[in-house]
Amino acid sequence: MDGNGRWAKAKHRPRLFGHHQGVETVRDIIKMCNGIGVEHLTLFAFSSENWSRPKEEVSGLMKLFMLALEREAKALAKNGVRLEFIGDRSAFSASLQQKIAQVETLTASGEGLHLIIAANYGGRWDILQAAQKIIQKANNEKSVTLSESKFNALVSTADLPDPDLFIRTGGERRISNFLLWQLAYTELYFTDVLWPDFNRDELQLAIDDFSNRQRRFGMTGEQIKDQKNA
Ligand code: IPE
Ligand code: MG
Repeated sequence: MDGNGRWAKAKHRPRLFGHHQGVETVRDIIKMCNGIGVEHLTLFAFSSENWSRPKEEVSGLMKLFMLALEREAKALAKNGVRLEFIGDRSAFSASLQQKIAQVETLTASGEGLHLIIAANYGGRWDILQAAQKIIQKANNEKSVTLSESKFNALVSTADLPDPDLFIRTGGERRISNFLLWQLAYTELYFTDVLWPDFNRDELQLAIDDFSNRQRRFGMTGEQIKDQKNA
């Protein structure tokens, strides 16, 4: 979700105004995803690098996370959205950590959209924390043989399927340390639309674009066609 700051700047408003509007977009996109049967939605809300932003912006964002969780928790639960956080939450204030845990518990039995919020998340951090667990295991057991599926069980998205579609708003064409391990075969979609302006129509455009792509997973186009006809 990129472009909140530029959106606000264009309107001669403070960056936090853009973040507030960004939350409105989040709410609407969650609703749409839940409505059309998207099974998993992962939102990159705060990266491990975002701590380097101006102090007021960081503290404003923390307040906004708290406010959004307080405001939305009940509606999410009511609509069957299951909310889960990934990332190193130990860096957040005790009260925010508590709120996160509370909303996770409240929505745990949701059978609709599984919403994953990446907060204080970094793709390299994720790979490293998985590697750290392996080192631990190797210390306890004589030898550990790794496989993709074993490694997959140790990253923070352990029980989740790899993403089908990655969407980045705001014009940059990069991954910026999002789900590095998990994005290996994900379709990438970039749009210049700033996050506060991203809406249902824009999401539909991204989904339509995705639908027209052929995913080959290393095979040939002919093999894929044969598979489909089988
Ligand atoms: C939102 O957009 C991303 C967050 C970290 C919350 P930005 O704040 O990066 O907006 P720009 O890139 O300055 O426009
Ligand atoms: Mg940005």
